[in-house]
Amino acid sequence: MQTVPIIELNDGNVVSELGLGVFLMETGRGEELIHQAFDIGYRRLDTAAMYENEEMVGQAIASAGLPRDEVQVTTKLWNTDHGYDAALRAFDLSLKRLQLDYVDLYLIHWPCPKQDLYVESWRALEFLQSQGRVRSIGVSNFLPEHLARLIDETGVVPVLNQIEVHPHFQQQEAREFADQHGILIEAWSPLGRGAVLDDPIIQALSRRHGRSPAQVILRWHVQMGNAVIPKSSSPERLRENLNIFDFVLSDDELQQIADCDRAQRTGPDPAVFE
Ligand SMILES: NC(=O)c1ccc[n+]([C@@H]2O[C@H](COP(=O)([O-])OP(=O)(O)OC[C@H]3O[C@@H](n4cnc5c(N)ncnc54)[C@H](OP(=O)(O)O)[C@@H]3O)[C@@H](O)[C@H]2O)c1
Repeated sequence: MQTVPIIELNDGNVVSELGLGVFLMETGRGEELIHQAFDIGYRRLDTAAMYENEEMVGQAIASAGLPRDEVQVTTKLWNTDHGYDAALRAFDLSLKRLQLDYVDLYLIHWPCPKQDLYVESWRALEFLQSQGRVRSIGVSNFLPEHLARLIDETGVVPVLNQIEVHPHFQQQEAREFADQHGILIEAWSPLGRGAVLDDPIIQALSRRHGRSPAQVILRWHVQMGNAVIPKSSSPERLRENLNIFDFVLSDDELQQIADCDRAQRTGPDPAVFE
């Protein structure tokens, strides 16, 4: 079984460097995949209220029978639940669907700047953490300007920012801001939803190392200091994605991947997405 390295967060808690994203995993098959993932060493699951599969995730955790403190669960506050009271209500429902007493990480899914409520939502997350129902609090899809405001107005720095990052969308500005403030970058769509696998540089490095293109990309992420949450619906690819801790990309190879950046998003722009 593969052991995944851990990363210490700015609040002293730790997370696995690599977890399983469960977006689009459904009841039945999803539960089976989560059990297969646990069997080979995954210990961290990334869901969200918006994925409408928190119940399935909770069921999979309950039926796997692992000690609670061996599994880390992230879920997220959806855009329609911004604001202090609404966030508390939404969290109660998420926790109930997950059949848990606490979650390891609770994130604001998108800043939704037009609603202008993310600071109030953040205060609700702080309250939930003080109650022990959330171990660590963070955000997702926050631009540096949103993070700066959150930190200025509340003094509480998110432990991580989960954002779209892959070789075609490397997010230099967001990474620099995160570095300066001790915020971990967690890459969503770390494989660019599969679209980066055919990049010629990735293909060449894959041949050179005798590793799959996905393994090269995930290895690049961990060497950049990113946490990653690739999703796969295939047991073979779940295993492949986990087996990235026994080879190293050289500085020159990292630079070749740095040069692949096309500033090309696959998902929405946080500046306008509501
Ligand atoms: N915070 C946010 O706003 C946000 C947004 C999007 C996603 N996320 C999170 O990030 C997770 C991952 O993102 P994602 O699913 O969009 O993209 P991804 O992990 O970059 O890519 C998933 C795609 O790559 C394929 N794939 C996975 N492993 C592979 C391998 N070893 N070789 C070839 N193909 C492979 C998968 O196909 P198969 O399933 O067939 O293997 C699937 O089509 C989500 O599940 C979710 O938890 C968060």
